[in-house]
Amino acid sequence: MALRFLLSSLAFLLFSASPTLSTNSEGNALFALKSRLSDPANVLQSWDPSLVNPCTWFHVTCDGKNRVIRLDLGNTNVSGRLGPELGDLEHLQYLELYRNNIVGEIPKELGNLKSLVSMDLYENRFGGHIPKSFSKLKSLRFLRLNNNKLTGSIPRELASLSSLKVFDVSNNDLCGTIPIDGPFTNFPFQSFDNNSRLNGPELQGLVPYDFGC
Ligand SMILES: *[C@@H]1O[C@H](CO)[C@@H](O)[C@H](O)[C@H]1NC(C)=O
Ligand SMILES: *[C@@H]1O[C@H](CO)[C@@H](O)[C@H](O)[C@H]1NC(C)=O
Repeated sequence: MALRFLLSSLAFLLFSASPTLSTNSEGNALFALKSRLSDPANVLQSWDPSLVNPCTWFHVTCDGKNRVIRLDLGNTNVSGRLGPELGDLEHLQYLELYRNNIVGEIPKELGNLKSLVSMDLYENRFGGHIPKSFSKLKSLRFLRLNNNKLTGSIPRELASLSSLKVFDVSNNDLCGTIPIDGPFTNFPFQSFDNNSRLNGPELQGLVPYDFGC
């Protein structure tokens, strides 16, 4: 009798759970993103939160352990804002959101994506500052933030990103001076082009880095 009660309670628990709660934590983070975005081309149609994980959703790639490693939403006409939950995709390596109409600030929580290799947010309408938390992205090799409406100075902390190979902040509204150490010794002038208030390379000790901000 007790066993039967236990089994029916278990079945109740299994089958009565709300479908929106049955995907895993990475699925929840992605579904939260979907609910923030406007998606006129229906590229997020396959994002069904009743599946146990998001690994079969279009534009999402998982590794062999069903952990999300890529989000490919470049050039898909999505608009809206990003939220802090994107920082929960802790195994993400590629965050591709370029050429859309995304507005608002870049969430500082993206600095928690410690496996990230590539972050492409270029050609959107992001505003606000480049998060200092990006200095925690020790695996990052590609950071393209060009053609947005970013303001403020380039965080000095980014000079500690020794893996960074490509950095592009051209066509924004940044100010201050350009760091000169770490990976910044190798970035071409074009990476900083068309920021009318961005001064030249930092003259360390002579001018504060946020000069003119
Ligand atoms: C995005 O919108 C443009 C202009 O309306 C259209 O030409 C293009 O095909 C759309 N892209 C997608 C992925 O739907
Ligand atoms: C800067 O703006 C000019 C004029 O719009 C444009 O021709 C040039 O390609 C831009 N530079 C970069 C690196 O995008």
